[in-house]
Amino acid sequence: MPLQPRLSIEGLVRNLGGRRVVDGIDLTVAAGQVTCLLGPSGCGKSTTLRLIAGVDRQDAGTIWMDGVQVAGPDLHRPPEARGIGLMFQDFALFPHLTVAQNVGFGLPRGAASVARALELLARVNLSGYEEKYPHELSGGEQQRVALARALAPRPSIMLMDEPFSGLDDRLRDGIRDETLAVLKEEGTAVLLVTHEPSEAMRMADEIALMRNGRIVQRAAPYNIYNAPVDLKAASFFSDVNVLPGKVHGALTDTPFGQFLAPGLPDGTEVDIVFRPQHVRLDFDRHGRGPNPTAAEGAPARATVLRARFMGRESLVEFLMDDGHSRVSATVPAVFLPKPGTILWLSIPRDRCFVFRREGAV
Ligand SMILES: Nc1ncnc2c1ncn2[C@@H]1O[C@H](COP(=O)(O)OP(=O)(O)OP(=O)(O)O)[C@@H](O)[C@H]1O
Ligand SMILES: [Mg+2]
Repeated sequence: MPLQPRLSIEGLVRNLGGRRVVDGIDLTVAAGQVTCLLGPSGCGKSTTLRLIAGVDRQDAGTIWMDGVQVAGPDLHRPPEARGIGLMFQDFALFPHLTVAQNVGFGLPRGAASVARALELLARVNLSGYEEKYPHELSGGEQQRVALARALAPRPSIMLMDEPFSGLDDRLRDGIRDETLAVLKEEGTAVLLVTHEPSEAMRMADEIALMRNGRIVQRAAPYNIYNAPVDLKAASFFSDVNVLPGKVHGALTDTPFGQFLAPGLPDGTEVDIVFRPQHVRLDFDRHGRGPNPTAAEGAPARATVLRARFMGRESLVEFLMDDGHSRVSATVPAVFLPKPGTILWLSIPRDRCFVFRREGAV
């Protein structure tokens, strides 16, 4: 029997300011799993989290925690009766309480609670900070106290809304990894909101990609990156190259040969989409490139427009031989061919996506 999810949501809807801000969200999160709700600003991530926390009330939909309904058409359990931990960007510690008192705040008084607070402070590497006050701590240390405080009552579900965005870049990576380790040890189900693809890729077991109040794709980071559902999903994670095409007999012509466009009727306008880091470059050998292969398709000749050094990689921009298509390629390390250089480009077929052109019929 599959494990019962810690958190499950069905058909969640919220209308605000005359708009449907959350538009039918279904989601499950299992114990010990981190799901990232990822999407652009304003797509409804925080609103969704607020509904799950119970600080806002949905217009439709049902929420279960450990199989028990906590919100539904005629039910609204208050936040404190939902067994959740909350962490927001502006996590406020109580300034007049010590670190240990902050962590123990939500716990009943007694020796067991003191032990729990000390245990958590040790987990977040803050042993010895018990008697300090929040103003004596750095931003990163305060964030770790907030994490310990949220975890102290052993919530079965942790809701986190951009919890790392207040930290500077240098601190952030370390704290993310530490936080993840503590959450995994505790076996908490985590729903983490972020608008940063890199944060979601780093933290998530599963990414729920959100757009206009809906989840458009749910998958593990590898799968969402390598098998995006549409052009917007692909371009949310990196720059992409887009070549236009038209379907003839379930195929579409491109400078790189024909691509399969299964299930699309003749005449459908499509976008052939691939990431710059998946473009392979070969030198021109007396007007010829590498031989076509099943995996790489046909190579296409292109002229370097410009090449830029980006630090860890180089970005080379090309004009294809058709005279109008432009393609960018990123290459590890320093590779700065002169403008006008002829090179041959190929793309592994499994790194290319063919999508029906948005807005086209
Ligand atoms: N109380 C409200 N009244 C009217 N509109 C609201 C209200 N709260 C949120 N909205 C609108 O709902 C939309 C979604 O807001 P939400 O805060 O959920 O977005 P978000 O995905 O968390 O964005 P961000 O990444 O910027 O935090 C926004 O367009 C916002 O302006
Ligand atoms: Mg938000």
